[in-house]
Amino acid sequence: MKFFIDTANLDQIREAQALGVLDGVTTNPSLMAKEGITGANNILKHYVDICEIVDGDVSAEVIAVDFEGMVREGEALASLHPQIVVKIPMTEDGVKALKYFSDAGIKTNCTLIFSVGQALLAAKAGATYMSPFIGRLDDVSTDGLDLIEDIRLVYDNYGFETEILAASVRHTMHIVNCAKIGADVMTGPLSAIKGLLKHPLTDIGLAQFLADHKKGNQ
Ligand code: E4P
Repeated sequence: MKFFIDTANLDQIREAQALGVLDGVTTNPSLMAKEGITGANNILKHYVDICEIVDGDVSAEVIAVDFEGMVREGEALASLHPQIVVKIPMTEDGVKALKYFSDAGIKTNCTLIFSVGQALLAAKAGATYMSPFIGRLDDVSTDGLDLIEDIRLVYDNYGFETEILAASVRHTMHIVNCAKIGADVMTGPLSAIKGLLKHPLTDIGLAQFLADHKKGNQ
């Protein structure tokens, strides 16, 4: 399972990269705005800065909502750096853009997936990744993990190569359960990734080992 971090914060990306388990980064316009990155040139530069920190795919989202605009923006994003993956929303024009980029050999991530039907369309259009937002489904009393399970079944039925990128991951159990179901990738906050480290018995065990070592060496 690939681990992506879902942020545009360079310090957090550096910290996750230093851990040695990071496979990529996802961003979106909200995450960029949260870091105060505004203006076309600053946004493009920020994507390059991210690519220079990580060794893996970096999703950069188009703002255009029409096919021509998505193609124009996506091509500009893809030309920034070989690690850029063009992030396209699941809309009618978005599906056409996914097919266009797939035919052109440019990697894509289809975002804002909330149903199996949408996932099926993204795969048919040749998306490289497809992002079901599990946390946002949980927020409206719908189990996001059920969607991941259903998409896994459908993709396996037909051997679709589009990778299931579980997005809107909020905590460690989302990651663990996505891994059990067989999501190809998860993208989440640094807190959820680092949360996987924690177990009180590890802390207790380590304290005991160190205390015994100290006693034995007095
Ligand atoms: C996915 O690529 C999105 O950036 C993201 O996971 C959305 O998460 P949120 O629901 O926590 O905003």
